[in-house]
Amino acid sequence: MPSSAVALAHPNIAFIKYWGNREETLRLPANGSISMNLAALWTRVTVEWEEREGEDHLIINGEATGGATLQRVSAFLDLIRQQSGLNARANMLSESNFPSGAGLASSASAFAALTLAATRAAGLELDSIALSRLARRGSGSACRSVPSGFVEWYAGASDADSYAVSIAPPEHWALVDLIAIVSAEHKAVGSLQGHALAPSSPLQAARLADAPRRLDLCRRAILTRDFEALAAVAELDSDMMHAVMMTSAPPLLYWQPATIAVMQTVRGARARGIAVCYTIDAGPNVHILCPESERSAVRALLEGLEGVQEVVESGPGEGARLL
Ligand code: DP6
Repeated sequence: MPSSAVALAHPNIAFIKYWGNREETLRLPANGSISMNLAALWTRVTVEWEEREGEDHLIINGEATGGATLQRVSAFLDLIRQQSGLNARANMLSESNFPSGAGLASSASAFAALTLAATRAAGLELDSIALSRLARRGSGSACRSVPSGFVEWYAGASDADSYAVSIAPPEHWALVDLIAIVSAEHKAVGSLQGHALAPSSPLQAARLADAPRRLDLCRRAILTRDFEALAAVAELDSDMMHAVMMTSAPPLLYWQPATIAVMQTVRGARARGIAVCYTIDAGPNVHILCPESERSAVRALLEGLEGVQEVVESGPGEGARLL
């Protein structure tokens, strides 16, 4: 039995967003979601199980990490200890090629890679669905970083049927995500607390009721490589999630003035016939999507904008894999 393993996973950007849980501890989402893995960004996690007493050890980008982060990771590892019957502590090394301070979510890539490395090192050989279900327990969006390319997370009604599957491989569509970094600060309210606030918005019920329609439109747009349709539904879905955030109690406003400047620039460019759209997660940075053919035109627009500190670029990526 191997007692150590190394795995790599990419973060993902959701075109149809996950916001709110129907069940918090199992992380059963209130709605299904669709995303694309980001090839240029990755987290690599090494896990070694050691038979000793005490705490699990976690080093993130060279720094020993304790506190709430280690607690969350150790609670997740308990699930693997239960499944494998292993009574050991984990020594973990996590490295990302994007700084966690850059406002890009690393929990998806980190938990997807951790799930694969930790189960394999514990002697478990789980299939993609079982890995996705388990990764979901660490961070909801991590379940979407397990399968390859363009991915759909079925909300499901229980632990057994809430997981993500690939709907198209990365080479299906040469889309580019240009991430306009407008602030590298850590978020004031992380997605963990944010999900819990979602039901307090009167708009969440309408957002959920319409989710199956948006999922259908998005899935079809991906399968037929229809950028115009994708742009319409992805922007609508992002705006609906932010409307819920802004109207929850207490309200959450993640946008900065530069966020809105980018949104308006993207809308303006689309009105002039450029195939481009935006989507925004729980932070001020803007993900700008376009077909590869429009990449340099869109990049030029963004680089001239005041408040845009950096533009990080990625195409569609593979799923989580062992190294
Ligand atoms: C806005 O997956 O980060 O990025 O399950 O608490 O770890 P936890 O939440 P997380 O939430 C992601 C929220 C989002 C939308 C999305 O990626 O679907």
